Amino acid sequence: MKILFVCLGNICRSPLAEGIFRDLVDKKGLNDKFTCDSSGTSGWHIGEPPDSRSELIAKKHGITLDHFGQQLSREDFENFDYIIAMDKDNFRNIKAANGFEKFNGENLLLMREFDDVAPNSDVPDPYFGGPEGFQHVYDMLNRSCNNFLEHLLEKHYIHT
Ligand code: 4NP
Repeated sequence: MKILFVCLGNICRSPLAEGIFRDLVDKKGLNDKFTCDSSGTSGWHIGEPPDSRSELIAKKHGITLDHFGQQLSREDFENFDYIIAMDKDNFRNIKAANGFEKFNGENLLLMREFDDVAPNSDVPDPYFGGPEGFQHVYDMLNRSCNNFLEHLLEKHYIHT
């Protein structure tokens, strides 16, 4: 099953979501069941490593982010099973992107649909704020990714 996490710049939120999700999959020994990647609705940071503040918060939790910025492309709609948007702007832009008609629209989801603390809220863009914003984003992504993975395991009858 192929999962794509999407934000605006692909340097703060979505590479962190990708790293957290991959770490959970690793820890559950489910590497043969899931692959994941991330991209941005903009092409502003193509080829760049993640923001150092995302790298730092990931590292603090034992996760290394191994990613370079890329922009959402029409092929992604044919290659991925699930696309997870960080906020409602991303969600709208993904829906409006070229090639979206090839995608099963039911599998475009909002990341915090899976956050029991504040379901369906946005993962706020931390780019222009301070480091505490990245801790906040990490916490909501960690809760959301855990619950999203549990949801997928149940829905697709995957046993750990
Ligand atoms: P992200 O954050 O969408 O979580 O990667 C941003 C990164 C860069 C910019 C905006 C948001 N920017 O304006 O360059």
